[in-house]
Amino acid sequence: MRRIISVGALALMLAVVAVVWLAAQQPKPVTRPAPPVAVPPAATEPVAWMELARTPPMGWNSWNKFGCNVSEQLIRETADALVATGMKDAGYQYVVIDDCWQVSRDANGTIVPDAQRFASGMKALADYVHSKGLKFGVYSDAGSKTCQGRPGSNGYEDADARQYAAWGVDYLKYDWCSTDGVDPKIAYPTMRDALKRAGRPIVFSMCEWGRSQPWTWARGVGHLWRTTGDIGPSWQSFVRLLDQQVDLWKFAGPGGWNDPDMLEVGNGTLTAAENRAHFSLWCLLASPLMAGNDLRQMPPEVRDILTNKEVIAIDQDALGAQGRRIRRDDLGRGSSVEIWAKKLQDGGYAIAFLNRSNPNTEPAQMAVSWQEVGLRWDAEPMVRDLWAKKDLGRIKGTFSATVAPHDVVLVRVTP
Ligand code: GLA
Repeated sequence: MRRIISVGALALMLAVVAVVWLAAQQPKPVTRPAPPVAVPPAATEPVAWMELARTPPMGWNSWNKFGCNVSEQLIRETADALVATGMKDAGYQYVVIDDCWQVSRDANGTIVPDAQRFASGMKALADYVHSKGLKFGVYSDAGSKTCQGRPGSNGYEDADARQYAAWGVDYLKYDWCSTDGVDPKIAYPTMRDALKRAGRPIVFSMCEWGRSQPWTWARGVGHLWRTTGDIGPSWQSFVRLLDQQVDLWKFAGPGGWNDPDMLEVGNGTLTAAENRAHFSLWCLLASPLMAGNDLRQMPPEVRDILTNKEVIAIDQDALGAQGRRIRRDDLGRGSSVEIWAKKLQDGGYAIAFLNRSNPNTEPAQMAVSWQEVGLRWDAEPMVRDLWAKKDLGRIKGTFSATVAPHDVVLVRVTP
């Protein structure tokens, strides 16, 4: 009798084990929705992350001129204009749609572009930009909403990164609105990792306005990090942002760049001289060069500034050193002159002489010794004026320039 019971108990136990085992073989209940987009093919080449921005990224972004007024037509025409104006030849490659391309998320959480403004879809638009030999960028936000109240990527990082990769996105600007309780040191690495997992090389532009001093921690996270609030198209805005860059030179270098915000060259109230000064100083700072004007109707004088290859070469110099302010002379009554110098790979320097005095004042006489710049006291380097496009010959000891107010003289010295 006892044996019969134990045989029965054994059979029962076996039956229970079998049921549990069988249940474990059933498909698990779906707790997460299926990936909202097709997983793109893995990148054909593993491109080292830092290599994506060995020199400061160059391109165009819609925000400064167009705000929310973006559309596929604007992006296509801008891509055409980048080619037609010589901007592409000069090195500008990313065409980036800033805020307002996105309107909602669908039931799967997939980001939904504005169907009126981008009727052909983002993939077709990326294809068009690529067909011009250019690269394509979009914008999102580390918080719940973008700065214009569109859906942000918080909680959707992987879904968004996969979607961008599937469209063929090459550049992501990632903003910082609606981020209460979000830690930038977590949010930005989270999106970087999602981009890496998505398997497409995507330049990652961090836009948290310098709040957490990203220059101290963001190398290896973003390829560029904003150091300030937003730029505006005025001289006052330009010099305000410039002053905030003075101590940041040590943090920039190949793979990671301080970003004092996008260019306003050709916008607002900036005169030709002011445009030149703004562009020169951004190049001295090894700043990313994202044009922000309407390239479809660009006056020749603006085009000549944005496409001056010798000035761009200062920005893109392979050494990747950010320029430093080596002198600031306060002339009183709001007037001042400054000298900035950027070390170059060939052992030379770019030197910018900036006159910040009021527009109605006399031109300033500014002089600098080679020693002050960083060259030997007895150096006799070749000097070239990059805006005049003129060789000034070998000069010994001291160099001086006459600089009109709200203007700049930019020279390259080669030992
Ligand atoms: C913030 C950014 C800007 C721009 C706008 C878009 O202000 O700093 O560069 O992207 O959002 O809403």
